[in-house]
Amino acid sequence: MAEKLNQSPDQLRVKIGIQKSGKLTPDSLTLLEQAGLNVGVATDRLSVVCRTFNAEVVFLRDDDIQNFVRRRALDLGIIGQNLLQEFGTRGLDQLLELGFGKCALTVAVPEDSPFQTIDDLEGKKVATSYPRSTRRFFREREVNAKVLTATGSIEVTPKLGFADAISDLVSSGNTLEREKLRPLESIFASQAILIGSEKIPKQKKEEIEELLMRFKGVIDAKEYTYLVMNAPAELVDGISRICPGLTAPTVIPIATEGWVSIHVVIPKSAFWDKVRELKAIGVTGIAETEIKRIIF
Ligand code: PRP
Ligand code: ZN
Repeated sequence: MAEKLNQSPDQLRVKIGIQKSGKLTPDSLTLLEQAGLNVGVATDRLSVVCRTFNAEVVFLRDDDIQNFVRRRALDLGIIGQNLLQEFGTRGLDQLLELGFGKCALTVAVPEDSPFQTIDDLEGKKVATSYPRSTRRFFREREVNAKVLTATGSIEVTPKLGFADAISDLVSSGNTLEREKLRPLESIFASQAILIGSEKIPKQKKEEIEELLMRFKGVIDAKEYTYLVMNAPAELVDGISRICPGLTAPTVIPIATEGWVSIHVVIPKSAFWDKVRELKAIGVTGIAETEIKRIIF
């Protein structure tokens, strides 16, 4: 603590890099906000100092985020996992999977091309923004393809005659469809992750741990949901067996004699199964409400 008193707020400020404008930007901003880091309406700002936590959010190109975190110019960053496949993990810690920005690096070919398998791309040109991952993939498959690099709009390159095939991120698949491309194979799946510098500055350790706890609280909450139901007291045992909760269900007396209100947390994916089982033992009036954050 004494050590901290000598530090200016600037030295203690946690610097977090997020994508400036791209597919990860909206979800990254939402996650920060749900973790109590209000960034405000920072449309044209390159960096914003949060008012609610000693942190600064910096808006960058995602390639730069991983590089800056490695070089300790940033403490934390939100990027696609695909960038670690491409650039390696040296100097970085992968701290959390964030559950958004799901996509896959995918090899695709023009719909009307004769290519059916990766082997068919022997001697062909493949355009990508991920040359290392793509070269590694073709090398492992022992297919000699010529990997050519471009920085964006990869899907247009076959039409231009620049390449015979592409290797690019596919999320909804809309871009492939629009450009009349057919996926052949996925190289790897990816999602947004929180990365941190391998060597966290000592004076910021507490702040960074606090942020991790908050981010985890937001992410874990997405896995669970909250049920509230009224039932005759004799059903409590049966309900507890179906929904054991995190520790046990909360049982609260209500104004109707012999009846109770039961509150319990369940995995979101089990919702409809649990509802069916509860109805089968005679529970009626089940309400569900969203959990914003859950701290284990
Ligand atoms: C990304 C990616 C694909 C597209 C995939 O491009 O490179 O082109 O999104 O998304 P979809 O499957 O949902 O259509 P981005 O929009 O980031 O632009 P870029 O190609 O210029 O990098
Ligand atoms: Zn693209």
